[in-house]
Amino acid sequence: MASDPISAQPAAVAAVSQPVSLPLTRAAIFLVVTINPLDENRAAVLSLCADLSALLRAVGFRDLDATLSCIMGFGSAAWDRLFGSPRPAELHPFREFRSGARHAVSTPGDLLFHIRARRMDLCFELATQIMARLGGAVSTVDEVHGFRYVDNRDLLGFVDGTENPTGSAAADAVFIGEEDPAFARGSYVIVQKYLHNLDAWNKLPTELQERIIGRTKVSDIELDDSVKPASAHNALNTIEENGKEIKILRDNMPFGRPGHGEFGTYFIGYSRSPRTIEQMLENMFIGRPPGNYDRILDFSTAVTGGLFFIPTATFMDSVTPDQPASAEPSNQAAQSTISATAGTSSSIASSKDGSLGIGSLKGENSHE
Ligand code: HEM
Repeated sequence: MASDPISAQPAAVAAVSQPVSLPLTRAAIFLVVTINPLDENRAAVLSLCADLSALLRAVGFRDLDATLSCIMGFGSAAWDRLFGSPRPAELHPFREFRSGARHAVSTPGDLLFHIRARRMDLCFELATQIMARLGGAVSTVDEVHGFRYVDNRDLLGFVDGTENPTGSAAADAVFIGEEDPAFARGSYVIVQKYLHNLDAWNKLPTELQERIIGRTKVSDIELDDSVKPASAHNALNTIEENGKEIKILRDNMPFGRPGHGEFGTYFIGYSRSPRTIEQMLENMFIGRPPGNYDRILDFSTAVTGGLFFIPTATFMDSVTPDQPASAEPSNQAAQSTISATAGTSSSIASSKDGSLGIGSLKGENSHE
């Protein structure tokens, strides 16, 4: 029997993933909710899981060219409550990173819906249908309507998304393989909502902005290594393991309300392991080496942060409203913070055994 190259499972039994790896769309809605207490609310969420694909088909069929899609992700505590054991090997609460004024905050979130289409009205309609189904079972903690800005630029004025992997490289970057066979073809996603101080940013000379991002502004060409600082955004976000670059897949979206002076970037990064994105966050917020941090953060504040697991579509279709959460609760339910003081990085973990569960991020990082 033919073997599947990504999951190393026999092709006949390989699960179908949720549509993680898609071309950029014009519009997106990012919806983060918590599940309210009581069993009936848990059941309402479970019942949506299996029906989500039908909702998507119903709304998406109105304009197939608009390529409506929806990803549903689950936070660590929500996974335990809904599904229990087995659990995805690297699912844990979002890890905070803090140094000086810079803080990658962790905020509440049980479920993430990442709805994408070429038309915002279809995203809006699907979000409306999902929320109508969930009703009082959930409380919304964050909702962002993102739009694609001229030339795929973020509101800092730079083209965003250029170095994303495509094709089989994208699949290799985002889908779990044989490292966690029970969850092969699943994915992890980290989201953060950033608010920009555009007044201050726009006062910087373009050459300085380019050295902060690591690319030219108008033509979007990567700066030569001879002029690119080690603190450039694209330098700090280059992660290598055994000489091979480890990529993630981003689908950032600008959002904002000019009348309220609000200008932001919704960061969303998919990866087969959250460690890659956590390493990027450590590099950005604490610095590589500590102190050599990302100057984007002098002009941008992270106001949310969440980590979610994206099970396969095959898994979602098999969920039933009355299924038991078979499980022992995870020992990783507590939150952890990585902080830096006086140039050294220290890990403060609060899981039961006092470890981060992935090993300390200090000195034994497997992604660098
Ligand atoms: C304020 C929020 C952010 C903005 C405005 C932003 C913007 C950008 C821009 C303009 C680029 C260069 C073009 C490209 O290759 O896409 C870029 C690259 C990149 N960013 Fe961000 N980004 C933000 C946050 C983040 C975060 C939080 C991460 C990861 C934790 C991240 C990871 C990356 C990666 C991996 C690259 C590609 C690096 C390369 O291979 O050259 N970004 N970003």
